[in-house]
Amino acid sequence: MKAYVYRKYGSPDEVKSIEREVPSPKKNELLIKVKAIGLNPLDYRIRRGSLRPFTNFNFPRQIASDFSGEVVEVGGENSSYNIGDLVYGMVFQLQSGASAEYIVSKEENLFHAPKSLKLEEAASVPLAAQTSLQALRDIAQLKKGMRVLINGASGGVGTFAIGLSKIFEAHVTAVTSFRNISLVNELGSDEVIDYTKNDFTQMKGSFDVIFDCWGNKNFNIVKDNLTSSGVYVSTIPNSKNFFSTFKTSFTSKKGKVVLVRSKKEDLAFLKKVIESRELKVVIEKSFSQDKIIEAYKHLETKRTRGKVIVVLN
Ligand SMILES: NC(=O)c1ccc[n+]([C@@H]2O[C@H](COP(=O)([O-])OP(=O)(O)OC[C@H]3O[C@@H](n4cnc5c(N)ncnc54)[C@H](OP(=O)(O)O)[C@@H]3O)[C@@H](O)[C@H]2O)c1
Repeated sequence: MKAYVYRKYGSPDEVKSIEREVPSPKKNELLIKVKAIGLNPLDYRIRRGSLRPFTNFNFPRQIASDFSGEVVEVGGENSSYNIGDLVYGMVFQLQSGASAEYIVSKEENLFHAPKSLKLEEAASVPLAAQTSLQALRDIAQLKKGMRVLINGASGGVGTFAIGLSKIFEAHVTAVTSFRNISLVNELGSDEVIDYTKNDFTQMKGSFDVIFDCWGNKNFNIVKDNLTSSGVYVSTIPNSKNFFSTFKTSFTSKKGKVVLVRSKKEDLAFLKKVIESRELKVVIEKSFSQDKIIEAYKHLETKRTRGKVIVVLN
């Protein structure tokens, strides 16, 4: 089978196509014929070597966490999946990526793909949408009537965060640049702040939740913009944000970090709200497999609107 791998840490140009053996699924695993992969900033952080202590020198490495595809073999006997099922999910990229014609995935990290999307489109959902869901519902406990500010609202995580906040019936203030004001309005934002003109931390207004999915603020910078029991959640797992989590564990205002995990229950919830058209999926661009390097170069401009996918089969 064809696989897209890199043999050393570096730029998108390190990603090459090679021939590899088709892997075999063990108990509680499935062999998936991959339809598409979804790209995320985590992919290029790993590829550049930023997570070297966890990824070591295990080369050649496949890239990408997100995938959609068809089940072609079931490992073990008591699977809840059948050959031919269409699924979407996330592999644990620190071990191995999804960029191959066939991959093995644990059953607990995937679910049946939303029927209202093309199978390739489903690859855009797992990592970014689960990050927003776990940050807003589980960490911030966002509820009806609460005010949430989403910083970085036009990216992969941010576009899902707007949709999920509206599902939870919250009042949404989206922070984006002038380029994406119409996009965040279409997704249901109640208010928009153009960060090229205004810094929300210098503006009046307090929020029950600040979801920083861009990551250029931190708890100390935003704490005056939170209500007395407000929660700041960042997607950036750096020492400053972990220190805020520790420091605010006994205070009423909280600083938190989200670290996404793929869960079949969360993928099932996302499937339901996508199929009911409550949650919109924004795909800016779809690339063919021979354009995987261009796809990563595009993502790495940090200007993408919603998601970027690469179609493999
Ligand atoms: N901890 C976790 O589990 C986890 C999970 C997912 C993602 N992340 C991290 O979260 C971050 C965002 O991920 P993503 O997938 O949403 O990235 P992304 O899709 O690449 O984000 C691109 C968007 O960021 C916006 N942006 C750029 N500069 C900005 C600024 N100064 N202020 C506000 N928005 C800005 C851009 O909009 P404009 O063109 O309008 O500027 C663009 O739409 C990444 O650092 C990623 O590694 C962490």
